[in-house]
Amino acid sequence: MTDLVIHPIGEGALSGSVPVPSDKSIGHRALLFSALCNGKSRISGFSFSADNVSTADALRAMGVRIETTGKTELTVEGVGLYGLRAPDKPLDCGNSGTTMRLITGILAAQSFPSTLIGDHSLTKRPMMRIVGPLRSRGARIDGQPHPKREGDITAPLQIHGLGEGKYLGPIEYESPVSSAQIKSAILLSGLFAHGATHFKEPTLSRDHTERMLSALGVPLRTVGTMVELDPGGWNGQMPALDMEIVGDASAAAFLLVAAQIVPGSRVVTRSVGTNPTRTGLLEVLRDMGAGLSIESLGERAGEPIADIHSWTEPLRATTIGGERVARAIDEIPIACALAVRASGTTVIRDAEELRVKESDRIATMATVLRSFGVTCEELPDGLRIEGKEGPLEAADIDSHGDHRIAMTSAILGLLGRAPTRVRDAGCITTSFPKFVATLRGLGATIDVVDEAP
Ligand code: S3P
Repeated sequence: MTDLVIHPIGEGALSGSVPVPSDKSIGHRALLFSALCNGKSRISGFSFSADNVSTADALRAMGVRIETTGKTELTVEGVGLYGLRAPDKPLDCGNSGTTMRLITGILAAQSFPSTLIGDHSLTKRPMMRIVGPLRSRGARIDGQPHPKREGDITAPLQIHGLGEGKYLGPIEYESPVSSAQIKSAILLSGLFAHGATHFKEPTLSRDHTERMLSALGVPLRTVGTMVELDPGGWNGQMPALDMEIVGDASAAAFLLVAAQIVPGSRVVTRSVGTNPTRTGLLEVLRDMGAGLSIESLGERAGEPIADIHSWTEPLRATTIGGERVARAIDEIPIACALAVRASGTTVIRDAEELRVKESDRIATMATVLRSFGVTCEELPDGLRIEGKEGPLEAADIDSHGDHRIAMTSAILGLLGRAPTRVRDAGCITTSFPKFVATLRGLGATIDVVDEAP
């Protein structure tokens, strides 16, 4: 078990220009799609976050050769759409919901059976949201009854395989939640289906799958929040990829917010993806009066990128809700840290999806905030947070194995009146393996304490 001890920054400030890890969402897709390509793909700028490594390992277990060729480079020998091999043991998706949900979309269409397992947190996450629509197009998938959500299932998932010569059918699915994982699972199953895939969601979730599949020549069309994939007439071939992955906007968010709440700070996060489906937090920062400038660097691998400058300015409370939530879904925990230093009461609404992330992020954030002496109220679909002046209480935080809770707590700890302990912080490698080193480089003092289990 790894704990972090965060020392108050006191009169100090954060300053520097830093890279951030590669985008985790794009990393998963780069691996999965290049495995299905014809030829050898090259992926660079890859940060080997634990979640991305789970996807790579699952593909290796199905016969895909993935080799690390440099510190941030790897190659993937594509096996083509129909070249995956039956795994000889359950595929372990670790903590990664994206691995499990996207791979299920692929495996649902295979002739062979497979089993997907995950860690304690993943084994509590709802899976009917993908299994339901996949079953309706002919997939045969079973899971365990969800302990808390009636009618839902969770991992382990048993995917029975279709048998030789059988295919998934067409689907027209309107998802009740905006979710790139649901959308991607259904689109991926659609690559193998006989018949078209139509998917619609309430507001547009991250669209990396659509961008990448279109670039690979897959017959896919989008109109607003609708996407259609009609493989009729398509030869099923995708050329190998050669791409550099952009920096992760969700990882950059922690540093951009830290620069707002530690007085006198100035931080630049370099080459960060600014896909409009991911920029909800940047809009929130602007609404709150943050010091922010976005220096566009054009596009990389079909995704816009920018250097983002963030410096401390007085913050005012805001309301985060509506369609913006889907574009800031992973940034809500760290947005709570902004609310702590804003004048007034910040309200977060329409974010019930946070209850089914790596932890129940509404409940865990309410506990975290109260531990720091912040007044907040838990709402069914969000939080109401009172801004607070002066040092925060020194806190002792349980991350609940949730990387974004651990990192948010570490940032808040900089404002403590005495050191803050973040327990079970090893989970940070899920998305930001160099988080501690990066924060230290910017001026924070953090001890890493490894304790025997
Ligand atoms: C992701 C989609 C989002 C996000 C997750 C990554 C993806 O989940 O929270 O961290 O890569 O598709 P949902 O699709 O469940 O909203």
